[in-house]
Amino acid sequence: MIEQNVSLKPYNTFGLNVQAKLMARVHSIPSLQEVLADIKLKNEERFILGGGSNLLLTKNIDGLVIKNELLGIALIKETDDFFFVQSGAGVVWHELVMHCIAHGYAGIENLSLIPGNVGAAPMQNIGAYGVELKDVFHSLEAVEMTTGKVETFLATDCEFGYRESVFKRKLKGQFIISSVTLRLSKKPNFNTSYGAIEEELELLGISSPTLKDVSQAVINIRQSKLPDPKVLGNSGSFFKNPVVATALYEELKAKHPTIPGYPAGDETKLAAGWLIEQCGWKGKVVGNTGSHAKQALVLVNYGNATGVEIFNLSEQIMQSVYDTFGVQLEREVNVY
Ligand code: EPU
Repeated sequence: MIEQNVSLKPYNTFGLNVQAKLMARVHSIPSLQEVLADIKLKNEERFILGGGSNLLLTKNIDGLVIKNELLGIALIKETDDFFFVQSGAGVVWHELVMHCIAHGYAGIENLSLIPGNVGAAPMQNIGAYGVELKDVFHSLEAVEMTTGKVETFLATDCEFGYRESVFKRKLKGQFIISSVTLRLSKKPNFNTSYGAIEEELELLGISSPTLKDVSQAVINIRQSKLPDPKVLGNSGSFFKNPVVATALYEELKAKHPTIPGYPAGDETKLAAGWLIEQCGWKGKVVGNTGSHAKQALVLVNYGNATGVEIFNLSEQIMQSVYDTFGVQLEREVNVY
């Protein structure tokens, strides 16, 4: 069924009240193919909506929103060392993580509580606390928008990078991800080297952690720093951490000795949150928007912001980081 004039406020974590002219909720590949082939909808602009957690909507959508609600989690194969778990793209990511932890499938515990749906995870190669989706990714299925044909993509086809994949670049707007298959370990290989996790486990008095313990530590850290979108609209990190030439990093370090920098190949990854905080934005309220008081990289909607206001704030922040450090920030969120 096609709905008309739908407010997208409940469907984007910034809580922006934009309207969609038309919306179709799809629960299966055949229902998706039917919508794609519908002659009456052929001329409508198409917009694919997942969990809406990495999205800044600055205007109404004068076309067809296809809301991906393909559900289901299944263990499709098992070897001596691995479980292969397939999830519908419309499953809430954190629910998949909880399911895997409950069944002893290891590898995504560090990715607990990341907002959004499973389909968006490969799109931007989600990552946190030293783990990225690509580390556990096996394959995905996606439906081509123009033909309705289902195609399989292996890891190499996805061209994963830092918050990047082929679906954000070359194939942008061409495929709808329908399911994702992860290769998860039977024996946990904990990645707790990311400082904050070790500290949190210590605080919890845990010396030999289980999957659930690591997940809980991550949840505690995230909840202490990142605002809950149900309470305060946001989309997690608004910008990417910029990767710059190491020579530039050394130059900046000479002027700003406390600047964080992490090796990224022969380049250096800077902490966008630190750069933004140094420019005085952390905790600052600008109209209905602001940079979060506990994590400057997160922009928030204090209630009645429009997407344009948030976009304008992001422009101001980018300009001041550029003026102060000569570093160009890039948005992580998708702007429409
Ligand atoms: N920092 C500041 N001020 C701030 C925020 C951070 O000085 O307001 C400094 C911290 O002190 C630290 C460094 O920046 O030295 C890095 O901070 P943090 O560990 O909080 O992580 P991040 O680089 O800001 C990234 C991801 C997050 C992910 C965390 C944990 C990006 C764009 N963001 O943030 O991902 O949860 O690491 O792994 O890579 C997201 O993508 O939406 C997201 C939340």
